[in-house]
Formats: sequence, C-alpha cells, structure tokens
Amino acid sequence: MALFGSSASNLVGLDIGSSTIKVVSLQSVRGGYQLEAAGIEPLPGGSVVDGAIAKREAVADAINHVFHSRKIKGDQIASSVSGPAVIVKRISLPARSAAEVGESIHWEAEQYIPFDIAEVYLDYHLLGPSEDGSETNVILVAVKRETIDNQSDVIAMAGKEPAIMDLDSFALHNIYEVNYKPKPDRVVALLNIGASVMNVNIATGNEFIFTRDIGMGGNYYTEYVQRDLGVSYEEAEKYKKGLAPEELKGTVSTVLQSVSEILCLEVQKTFDYFRTASDFEELETIYICGGASRTEGLRDYLQETFQVPVEFLNPFQKIKADGRALPAGNDGCDFAVAAGLALRYRGDKPTGPAKKGSSFSFLTGNLSQILKKLTQR
Ligand SMILES: Nc1ncnc2c1ncn2[C@@H]1O[C@H](COP(=O)(O)OP(=O)(O)OP(=O)(O)O)[C@@H](O)[C@H]1O
Ligand SMILES: [Mg+2]
Repeated sequence: MALFGSSASNLVGLDIGSSTIKVVSLQSVRGGYQLEAAGIEPLPGGSVVDGAIAKREAVADAINHVFHSRKIKGDQIASSVSGPAVIVKRISLPARSAAEVGESIHWEAEQYIPFDIAEVYLDYHLLGPSEDGSETNVILVAVKRETIDNQSDVIAMAGKEPAIMDLDSFALHNIYEVNYKPKPDRVVALLNIGASVMNVNIATGNEFIFTRDIGMGGNYYTEYVQRDLGVSYEEAEKYKKGLAPEELKGTVSTVLQSVSEILCLEVQKTFDYFRTASDFEELETIYICGGASRTEGLRDYLQETFQVPVEFLNPFQKIKADGRALPAGNDGCDFAVAAGLALRYRGDKPTGPAKKGSSFSFLTGNLSQILKKLTQR
C-alpha cells in the first residue's frame, strides 16, 4: 500500500480504559480532519484490573454496542495501552544511520528494559543526532506482549481488526500537536486523568519530551468519598459528579479537595523528576483531559499549585464536527486519546515495528510532517 497514496484512510481510534471505552472515527478532508462520530460506553466494574482486561466478553460487547449506537462503520482499529506494562525511554546511541539503528535496537534495548526481552514488543522512534553529532537520540518503547495480545484478542472478539497498537501518552501528544500547532519553544504539560491511571506528558513545541504514568485517577476520589461519607461506591460516584444531596455537598467538596492535593503532589513529583533529568524550561500551560479532569475544584487547584494557566484540552478544536458527531452534552474532553489514535493510518510510520511480526507501532514527534503530506494529497 502506498504510504501517502489515496488508498490510505484513517483507522478507527479505540481507547479501552478501566472505566469506559471511547471510540472516535475521523475522516481526512482537505487541509485537516472531520469528526464522523465519537462514542463513549461505560464498562461493568472489574472489566479491566491493573491494566489487564479481565472480563473479555463484557469489553467486546461494549465495543460492539458503542459502534452500533454511534453508527461507526470502520472495523480497522488503532488502540493503545498504558500503565505498568509499558516502558518508555529516551536513549542515546553512538552516532548511527537510521538503518543501523533498526538493526541494532533489539540488542541495545536489553539493558534499558526491566522485563525479559523475549516477553515484550519493542518499537522505537528516531529523534535524530545529538547537538554535537556524536550520538543518535531515540525514543524506545517496550510493552509486555501479554498486554498487547490480550487487548488485540478482545478487539478481534468484537469482530474488528487490531491494526495498530499505540500508547495512550503518544496518542495524547499527537492530538495536542494537531489541535494546538505549538510554537517550537512552547513547553506544556498534558494530563490525561482517567479512572485508574493519569498520563503525564511534557512537550516542547511539537517534540514529545517526557511521559510518566501515575497509577491514580478518578477512582481515588470515589473511594475517599465512599469511605469518608460511609456511602456505597455507586453513591460516591454520583456525589463526586455534583449529584450529592444539598446537605452533603460541603463535605463532599472537602473530600474532593483533599484528594486533589494528593494527585497534585504526584504531579509535582513528576515535574520535579523531569526537572532534574533535563534542561527544564518553565511550563507555559497545563492541558487536562480524561473523565476525572472534570472533578470539581481540580482545575483550580492545579492552577493555584503550579501557578500556570490550566485549560481543558479540546481534541476537536481544529477538527470539523457537526452537532451530532459528539454524544449529546459531551464537551469532548473524554476523547483525547481515542482521537489521537484515530489520526493513525496503516503504514503511516516510516520506521515500522522494530521486530517483524510485532503488532505494536507507535508514532510521535514528526507526526505533523507526516500529516501535512497526508492532508495535502
Ligand atoms: N463529571 C465528572 N466529575 C468527576 N469525575 C468524573 C466526571 N465524569 C467522569 N468522571 C470520572 O472519570 C473517570 C473515568 O474517566 P475515563 O473514562 O477517562 O477513564 P478510563 O479511560 O476508563 O480509565 P483509565 O484510563 O484510568 O483506565 C471515572 O473515575 C469517573 O468517575
Ligand atoms: Mg483512559
């Protein structure tokens, strides 16, 4: 298939979280993208545990249901993973050509990956030569095979084809790039706050700099409300979304605030770690998304703590969408990862998976150039 030929078409982006699945279908149009449809579907409790899909049939059913209810036709899927099964490292190799990196990356990777190399899928992205030209910088990614195989199986069980596996954090970066077209020196943090994982990315301009997954999210708020107010999990889930009885609202707000403090402390640690590991320019903006980014008081608390503007990341800011493409009343902030995945094409990655037979292929960094070629065709 021609890489930038007219036969290329967007895959359907499918973000399987631990609490909901999100699906986005985009179409390339002149100069950009159009949103065909987006859908979100809750998963039964316990469907995804510690990043692994435990209730395979329930998840496959939910995929089918959301495709059907949102009338999504495509069945070629780009999906993603995150959490403890994923390792992302920026590494520097002695200066090498692209072909040499491809040949040596597998054995080079061994020293950077804390898992048995036989049990992971590997891929990499060439960043280019270091400033003095003595080294070649590379982003290396390893994901446990069982995580990818398990997710691929569930997608296949739903009658779809798992064409590409990416990472939540790269999909997040890619959708940011497309919508915000950042100037080269603009340093931002992207926070995707889900139910059990928070992806924290740092980007400078279009360049993906750093990512870390923190094992905390909306579930923390629910559990604290449940415990402190002595209510059921289901009630706590409602209360934290602003649906508490009037007389309990003050107490709920206090609990939410105390959890926001814990979350912010983790974000602070991540920023501190990143500062020590690189020449950190001051952050200009923090963009937040994911279901739990809507938690009452969180945005203000982040803004006060880090003293920078905190905005909701709108994944459809530069994407044409008619009124019915998004579910009624949805502001889009659930769909950042799914939309980032829906940018992908089969064969869009010049280097391809590092090891033949691996179904894992991520894409970041020079996405904008690739997209330019695609959208100018
Ligand atoms: N209005 C709201 N206020 C507070 N929390 C909310 C709101 N809407 C959704 N949430 C919370 O967002 C979380 C779900 O977000 P999301 O769908 O992004 O998670 P996920 O992708 O399924 O999970 P993960 O990626 O962490 O496995 C849940 O904890 C839910 O309670
Ligand atoms: Mg998620």
